[in-house]
Amino acid sequence: MFHVKTQFDVATEHEGLVVGVFEKPEKFAGLLAELDEKFDGQLTELVKSGDISAKHKSVSKIHSFGKIGSKRIWFVGLGKEKDFSFEKLSEALGKVSKAIKTSKLEETALLLESFTTAQIDGLVAAQAVSEAFTLATYQFEGYRQKSNEPEKKLISLTVYSGTFDEEELHASLTVGYAFGKGTNSARTLVNIPGNLLTATDMANYAKELAVQYDFEVEILEKAEIEKLGMGAFLAVNQGSTEPPKMIVIKYQGKDVWKDVIGLVGKGITFDTGGYSIKTKAGIVGMKSDMGGAAAVLGAMEIIGELRPEQNVVAVIPSTDNMISGGAFKPDDVITSMSGKTIEVLNTDAEGRLVLADALTYALHHGAEYLVDVATLTGGVITALGLHTTGAMTNHEVLYEQIVEASMEAGEKIWQLPLFETEIQRVRNSKVADLNNSPGSEGHAIVAGAFIGEFAEGTPWVHLDIAGTATTSKDYDLGPAGATGVMTRTLALFVERFDSIEK
Ligand code: BES
Ligand code: MN
Ligand code: ZN
Repeated sequence: MFHVKTQFDVATEHEGLVVGVFEKPEKFAGLLAELDEKFDGQLTELVKSGDISAKHKSVSKIHSFGKIGSKRIWFVGLGKEKDFSFEKLSEALGKVSKAIKTSKLEETALLLESFTTAQIDGLVAAQAVSEAFTLATYQFEGYRQKSNEPEKKLISLTVYSGTFDEEELHASLTVGYAFGKGTNSARTLVNIPGNLLTATDMANYAKELAVQYDFEVEILEKAEIEKLGMGAFLAVNQGSTEPPKMIVIKYQGKDVWKDVIGLVGKGITFDTGGYSIKTKAGIVGMKSDMGGAAAVLGAMEIIGELRPEQNVVAVIPSTDNMISGGAFKPDDVITSMSGKTIEVLNTDAEGRLVLADALTYALHHGAEYLVDVATLTGGVITALGLHTTGAMTNHEVLYEQIVEASMEAGEKIWQLPLFETEIQRVRNSKVADLNNSPGSEGHAIVAGAFIGEFAEGTPWVHLDIAGTATTSKDYDLGPAGATGVMTRTLALFVERFDSIEK
């Protein structure tokens, strides 16, 4: 889909040509000046008059009437150069790629230098181009008898750049595409309904990924899960006719299996709440309760593409949370793999239960750093809204690395406190070591605190994506539905990971 050319000739024929414009250019320079000349200076005039808007994210299309080889030019506003950032660039590119998609062009070209600044060079911009185009034009096909996929979609984007060589540019485009594609895979997993994505389906998906990228894969079946004593995970699965799967993927990018990063993703394929059943309104959308697992699998796909020099073990506990005569109940006391006993006060607080055993199992596989991702609580939505992922940690230095990755990925996270007072609330039970639901006050925090009990002092970061895993509105870099949030953050975190003195 993405091609590179280093020589731009205004006479070369294309269906479209994408050009970025900053606010108040004194006058066009370089290739833009060359284009402007072909239009006898009219482009400069159109920008001055505002007919071609340079406002950030505005898209203006003009026909070239044969004055240049490209049939049309898409101008995309980049705003003020001093306010420009990778995120702004991505949003603008997302916007124009959506416009191109709507107009059903199959082929177009883009002038990379019109998007670069002193801070954002051609290689960075190239990565943004392939990532943003891939993300913004994502579409979940769905299951209508008649497909709503457009018959025509962009199949070729030629990126022109005079300042870098073809190989370097191509490498950047490949990286951006990998990030976009991994995120889209995560989105698709989340968009698939619970009847079509069971724990078994998720395990099969992981196996395919492992074949594709030469990962080691281990799928624990129910009997093995029982043998290992994962009583917390099993309790959640107890009411289901679908067998549970503990999915483990290993990527070894170093000579020795040390400094292992454990990525743990909540993989509840549907959450009814169990006997602490959800409301009629609250239950709809709970197919997305495997958003953490999807982010981990999406990140593994990116890692498989980019093959960083890191060691990663991904652990995904997968089951649905159902009701039946055999389902677990409030008041039940269960024993986790760690040996810690748990008093169940709420069967809808199931995420922390499956994650508890998953964290323990990640430690068994040698994880020395743990990051869990989960659509864990409605409480995080109350606390932070729908655009910010909630984070908690027992290790500020590790957390710093997650924050940096998230900023680079353009995914906002914000830390919630883990104070001793809230840890004590989780440890408060008359019959067991822990309870799974100490009350609604600060419940995003106590949920995180509960999971933290199973990190056993290992550096750990918890990411609650209940608010950010899906969106009800289209946005610059994607459609309504699953966002694939944290896929890129996790992959970037792994890529840049700097082992920590413990
Ligand atoms: N999967 C839900 C959290 C959730 C809520 C995700 C809304 C996405 C949107 C989780 O398992 C859950 O039910 N959490 C409960 C916990 C409570 C029972 C302590 C919640 O947040 O209400
Ligand atoms: Mn629940
Ligand atoms: Zn849940």
